[in-house]
Amino acid sequence: MENLHQSISGTKYPIIQAGMVWVSGWKLALACSKAGILGCIGAGSMSPEVLDIHLTKIKTAIGDLPFAVNLPLFYSKIEEQVQLIIKHRVPIVICSAGSPKKFTSIFKENGIKVFHVVPSLQLALKAQDAEVDAVIAEGFEAGGHNGRDETTSLVLLQELQGNLDIPYFAAGGFGTGRSLLAAQVLGASGVQMGSVFVPTIEASCHPNYKNYLCNLPSGATKLSLKPLNPVRLAPNKFFEEVQKLEQRGASKEDLATLLGKGRAKLGMFDGNLEEGELEIGQIISLVKDVLPAGEVVKRIVREYQEAKELVRRG
Ligand SMILES: Cc1cc2nc3c(=O)[nH]c(=O)nc-3n(C[C@H](O)[C@H](O)[C@H](O)COP(=O)(O)O)c2cc1C
Repeated sequence: MENLHQSISGTKYPIIQAGMVWVSGWKLALACSKAGILGCIGAGSMSPEVLDIHLTKIKTAIGDLPFAVNLPLFYSKIEEQVQLIIKHRVPIVICSAGSPKKFTSIFKENGIKVFHVVPSLQLALKAQDAEVDAVIAEGFEAGGHNGRDETTSLVLLQELQGNLDIPYFAAGGFGTGRSLLAAQVLGASGVQMGSVFVPTIEASCHPNYKNYLCNLPSGATKLSLKPLNPVRLAPNKFFEEVQKLEQRGASKEDLATLLGKGRAKLGMFDGNLEEGELEIGQIISLVKDVLPAGEVVKRIVREYQEAKELVRRG
């Protein structure tokens, strides 16, 4: 699998384990980097103090392997997080939910590569203008917060192809080796996968949530809270309340009141399956067991190699 991705991310395989609030702490990132992909710590749910601990732990254990930190840019203590990433000499930062102009130059001046998550060609071009090293193009299928325009990964990749000078990774709905090969055929240097790494042993989220996800049928997730901040959710009591409010044409304020504070932590980290917010992507319908992350990577790599062989044979 020698490819452009090796010069960009330095990993054996062209896969990024996505940064995910309440899910991807240092243990998951370490397991993924050890398995040959780019492990990523999700800083979005961490105070600067907690991020410092996770960075210290991964730096002690990871040796020379590459890893990344995902940094949603709307966080109030963002400046402190940026300083921690520089202090710990994190090799790659994956920014999301904010302007790529904001911190790209400071990271690059400190020898840190910058990837930026985008939901459209228009924002990919903006990120390119801001001189990021690569973009991660995330389609409608993805778990977590999402773009409003509902562009699927398949369409987004075709829109990007031939229109960007920098490398791009695909995200949203990728969970198998075959889908990785398909993304490469569409010009991507690799894929970022999130949902398939949620039900893993090393993920920091609650076992209730992991086990629940392993039983979701196809089509169970929905992009919810669109007037507020679109997020793809698994069904539960909270999700039904959101649906009811949305059907009644609820205002942004009504939705914000229902959401309140701490819903994502309540669902994903504390394991409250009724009242919490359970973020997850469409591809979760394929996952039936909680496994070590390294096993998930092995399966994807095996499928990828089989798919390549099939294509070669015609
Ligand atoms: C539980 C969960 C939490 C997420 N949290 C974040 C986050 O903190 N920052 C971010 O940029 N994206 C976040 N995402 C999106 C992922 O980084 C990734 O782009 C997405 O999961 C890819 O699509 P997939 O779920 O179909 O694999 C999250 C996704 C999930 C499933």
